Amino acid sequence: MEKILVLDFGGQYNQLIARRVRDLNVFAEIKPYNKISLEQISEQKYKGIIFTGGPNSVYDSESPHYDKKILDLGIPVLGICYGDQLMAYMAGGSVVHAKENSEYGKANLCIKENTLFKGIPAKSICWMSHTDCVQNLPEGFQIIASTEKCLCAAMCNETKKLYGVQFHPEVTHTEYGNQIFKNFLYDVCKCSGEWKVENYVEKMIEAFRQKLSGKKVLLALSGGVDSSVAAVLLHKAIGTSLVCVFVDHGLLRKGEADSVENIFKTQFKMNFIRVNAQERFLTKLAGVTEPEQKRKIIGEEFIRVFESEAKKLGKINALAQGTIYPDVIESGKGDSAVIKSHHNVGGLPDVISFEEIVEPLRDLFKDEVRKVGTMLGIPHELVWRQPFPGPGLAVRIIGEITKEKIQMLQDADEIFRDEVAKANLETMPNQYFAVLTNTFSVGVMGDERTYGYTVALRSVNTDDFMTAEWTRLPYEILEVVSRRITNEVKNVSRVVYDISSKPPATVEWE
Ligand code: XMP
Repeated sequence: MEKILVLDFGGQYNQLIARRVRDLNVFAEIKPYNKISLEQISEQKYKGIIFTGGPNSVYDSESPHYDKKILDLGIPVLGICYGDQLMAYMAGGSVVHAKENSEYGKANLCIKENTLFKGIPAKSICWMSHTDCVQNLPEGFQIIASTEKCLCAAMCNETKKLYGVQFHPEVTHTEYGNQIFKNFLYDVCKCSGEWKVENYVEKMIEAFRQKLSGKKVLLALSGGVDSSVAAVLLHKAIGTSLVCVFVDHGLLRKGEADSVENIFKTQFKMNFIRVNAQERFLTKLAGVTEPEQKRKIIGEEFIRVFESEAKKLGKINALAQGTIYPDVIESGKGDSAVIKSHHNVGGLPDVISFEEIVEPLRDLFKDEVRKVGTMLGIPHELVWRQPFPGPGLAVRIIGEITKEKIQMLQDADEIFRDEVAKANLETMPNQYFAVLTNTFSVGVMGDERTYGYTVALRSVNTDDFMTAEWTRLPYEILEVVSRRITNEVKNVSRVVYDISSKPPATVEWE
């Protein structure tokens, strides 16, 4: 399969670059610059290479560099931001630290005609974020774009098919960013555009059928998009040799556990085991109020339940997981501060012994996983399900968790989702839910004084969940939701709307 290498120098947009390329029907894979050798790059027969941006300056002693022979492999290269400066430096040019000329945000770009900018007007908007810039061009290169502050906003050596842009074509603020990638892929690298995830589903199923023939495979199904798609795909490959274990910890949204059971057991006729572990989790969580402790208890208890279920099944050859490409890329990175310990099934291989781990979705981005899910006939509501944290409603109930509180929150959350759906606004936010706070306030109902719980509504818009904005939901909806929750959910006397963005807040309250 033809593919593009995204050589990662530590840029924050590396995934975005790979997604842009894949959206243009060319397979792209991201490799950290220090994890792939020049020989490996030659062997893989990449059609093109993209150098990503990065936080460094090329002259820093610690800054990431690469063997300059990469520019002589005959493979076209597009350098972006730091990648552009690195290309200039490697090819014999120079870079200047231009603090007074640093640019951040939108800039006016003036271009000269050339292959990379085919079909782009002479003046357009691009997105800049840099301090350094190319000062002296390497031999054989010419300037092909400028902004007010940056004389060399883009450069090229057309003969050697080397291109560098100081701006970021991958972010949507660059008006013609997509066109630039398209030109690079099709006019410079001469790709044919054969990547379409849908065309690979049958091949993937067939490959797993052969690889797993005669083996028993276990999968922890959460009902989320990734594990559901992985389950259906493997089920198509090996049928009932795949055993799906669904641990119901009692902290799912209202009716969700039954719906998961219905889809996988009744509709897909899978070998599906539901473990009703609600009481077990509640007992462990009794009296616990500290958010990190709640997360740890749930994560550990999940492993214990799963482990005892796996033991009952006899010999299992492989464990299947719904790992997707961003998980693979991110796990290859250094440690960043733990803001919240995420609960997922990553700890399972350590406690149960398997001969192998199967990750059918490890090369795919979320939107590609969704396309596969749709192709496999998974219901729309599940394929497009909003994200839901592993510890479930436990991180949306502030303070101690009790059966009554879970029910109150499930009811309030259902009302919120119901009203958003009735207003046809389900696709407006990327995630929305109710939170049961532990703030009490005085209310009045009829002639009676009440003293009840406060429910908070949270709704966010985001591209990547790393940063988020609160959704400008129409007041009319907020009003109905508030009225219904205070009327229909006992002991709630107040509803508030969370208008904090991330950062400084997080999406979930705990
Ligand atoms: P935060 O609260 O960190 O959430 O801003 C960002 C996104 O991650 C989801 N989230 C989780 N997902 N396990 C998960 O699989 C978890 O433990 C977890 N905690 C938060 C959250 O719902 C949001 O989409």
